[in-house]
Amino acid sequence: MTASSNLDPEDWDGFRRQAHALLDRLITDVATIRERPVWRPAPEATRAFFERALPAEGRALEAILADVDTHIVPYATGNRHPGFMGWVHGAGTPFGVLGELIAASLNLNCGGRDHVGIALERQMARWMADALGYPAEASGLFVTGSSMANLLAVILAKLAVLGTDSRAQGLRQTERQLIAYCSSEAHGCIAQAMELTGLGSTHLRLVATDEAGRMDVGALAAGIAADRALGLQPFLIVATAGTVNSGALDPIHAIAAVAEKEQLWLHVDGAIGAMAALSDRLRPLLDGIAASHSVAMDFHKWGQVPYDAGFLVVRDGVAHKAAFAGANAYLQRAERGLAAGDTWPCDLGPDLSRSCRALKTWLTFEALGTARIAGAIEANCDLATYMAALVADSGVFELKAPVALNIVCFGLRGAGRSALNREIVVAAQMSGEAAPSWTTIKGETVIRCAIVNHRTTRRDVEAVMARLTADAKALAG
Ligand SMILES: Cc1ncc(COP(=O)(O)O)c(C=O)c1O
Repeated sequence: MTASSNLDPEDWDGFRRQAHALLDRLITDVATIRERPVWRPAPEATRAFFERALPAEGRALEAILADVDTHIVPYATGNRHPGFMGWVHGAGTPFGVLGELIAASLNLNCGGRDHVGIALERQMARWMADALGYPAEASGLFVTGSSMANLLAVILAKLAVLGTDSRAQGLRQTERQLIAYCSSEAHGCIAQAMELTGLGSTHLRLVATDEAGRMDVGALAAGIAADRALGLQPFLIVATAGTVNSGALDPIHAIAAVAEKEQLWLHVDGAIGAMAALSDRLRPLLDGIAASHSVAMDFHKWGQVPYDAGFLVVRDGVAHKAAFAGANAYLQRAERGLAAGDTWPCDLGPDLSRSCRALKTWLTFEALGTARIAGAIEANCDLATYMAALVADSGVFELKAPVALNIVCFGLRGAGRSALNREIVVAAQMSGEAAPSWTTIKGETVIRCAIVNHRTTRRDVEAVMARLTADAKALAG
């Protein structure tokens, strides 16, 4: 090997020193996260820095890491900060960082083959199957996030009704149009999954919800009956455990009864709420989830695992494999050796080369245990209830949706305040003191605070509300 073809550091000791120093700086950064703004926009100099030409020659690591300190670390998303309440972002923990470091250092490729990365992923699948009340034959797969897990679930439901022959035959052999159902509050990735699978989003029925944003099960049953009467073929119900707008939980138990009666695949989009299965107190909210066929969940949200760590759990592991496994010569298996192992992750989804998301997830669960993770989830829900009380006392705001889990939707009192509500959100983000986001409830843009961060305390909630109230008073006059 020539010196120039080996890409390792030339000076291992120097590399070690710099890597240790970097790790120290990163640990300090997260340990002192409260001392800095939740978020700040990157300055021009930083934006320009990332418009430079592709480098033909490498630079000294020391200079690159100095650029990391200057141009990257200060301008992260902000979700590690306890004042971040936008969208639905987990905060991560330093334990997960260690897991990511180990996985990157081992450079595990978790598409398959006989190595410990696969055992870690299976371990997580077994743990999650147990937590959800699924049988031992259940399977699980790490994916980027619930958007992807939901897409895979739509594929599974489609094959369950059309048969695995349709993998080769495609949809033109389908006699009757397949129809899926979710509530009008379901995440947009469900409609997108219908589009990506060629089933078409117009064949997704958006079932009405009650005042609290939960699927109306009577309307679901009536919709299925109406579609059957038209000669269409219902095949899938997607229940949401924690809607993206307000955190509402569909009545899974009642929906499962409809799915059973109608012989439809029941998928639960548990991106936000499925992790509540770890909590004795909150588990009853998911009643019926054990009767579902598949569940999407996100460790990067309430599992507090660094991005990304989505997960799909499938009740029938055999059907899961039949939906995705292929007979490729270069992936053939062996009794012994590196190609051993019956089911590889590449048999359970479309990715072949994939990182080891299982390691950071496993390490997080080993370090914290489910009791502490569940405790943080419960604390988030308690904080959301507390925030709702502060909203009521604020003198300017009113609640715009009931608080079911950890999401608080509110806005200026009265109707037609969309523009001002948006301005309040932007002002708070720009202040660096709070980072809420927004959504639309009953046609009105409202302020939305999703409390997903294990670092957030009552004082943080008070500080965020103080900021928003001050901005509201300044902007609304
Ligand atoms: C209910 C729901 N489903 C799906 C998703 C998509 O999840 P991901 O961002 O992990 O792809 C989200 C994201 O917040 C969500 O809230």
